[in-house]
Amino acid sequence: MPAPLAAPLATTLRDDDRSQTARPWVLANMVGSVDGAYARGGRSGGLSSEADRELFHILRSLADVVLVGAATARAERYRRPVDAGDSKARLAVVSKSLNIPSDQPFLSGSGPDPLVYFPQGADASSLPSGVEPCELDSEVVRPSDVLADLYRRGARTVLCEGGPNLLGQIAGAGLLDELFWTIAPVLEGGSLVGLVGTGGPYGTELRLHRLLRDGEVLFATYRAVRADD
Ligand SMILES: NC(=O)c1ccc[n+]([C@@H]2O[C@H](COP(=O)([O-])OP(=O)(O)OC[C@H]3O[C@@H](n4cnc5c(N)ncnc54)[C@H](OP(=O)(O)O)[C@@H]3O)[C@@H](O)[C@H]2O)c1
Repeated sequence: MPAPLAAPLATTLRDDDRSQTARPWVLANMVGSVDGAYARGGRSGGLSSEADRELFHILRSLADVVLVGAATARAERYRRPVDAGDSKARLAVVSKSLNIPSDQPFLSGSGPDPLVYFPQGADASSLPSGVEPCELDSEVVRPSDVLADLYRRGARTVLCEGGPNLLGQIAGAGLLDELFWTIAPVLEGGSLVGLVGTGGPYGTELRLHRLLRDGEVLFATYRAVRADD
């Protein structure tokens, strides 16, 4: 049986080895139903629980940067992590359309402006103030380029909070080191299914690192299988 999710969780997770060279350690945090649905009514909150929210905050406290796809930032009304009381992590958003509505909560608040990564040549003139535009050298945003830039800026731990589209690209590129998957005890159905989106198949192999539970909710932590494992 999985061990109960217990009080020293924050310390346990903090003490895990995440040493990495040349690029940041990438962890991802997702909540999903037993059938892999990632949202209810277009947002993840309906699948979450108190313990999942606790894990969410603990993981943010480990991160230098919280990285999300723009669709997640828009759907979940992202704030700056500092303002959500989580951590000192800086927010980074990946976008192609540069559709960042001017009422996005993350456009103002404490701490440094969020980074917005976009492909070379995209028209950034409509970007609202309150972000730091980061134009990449390529017409396609590659997760490896985003991570390389974050590493240059000093980030050593990057927490990807989705969504599935962006996470799939990261996993598919072999850049995901650790996945926290909260399994909500529900068969959700619907079309918002698939923690790594509809790309692939990726075939990214994982090994189970830790399995905890809180009542009916399971918390599985996986790590990517490396050649030297
Ligand atoms: N269950 C969970 O834990 C969880 C976590 C996060 C999100 N969610 C849910 O997932 C849904 C959103 O996820 P999603 O998979 O649809 O989208 P997503 O990954 O959050 O964002 C996709 C968007 O990110 C930008 N993007 C991604 N890769 C890019 C690239 N290589 N180059 C340029 N731009 C890129 C594009 O933004 P533009 O459209 O601006 O071009 C794209 O439309 C929401 O319903 C959200 O509530 C659930």
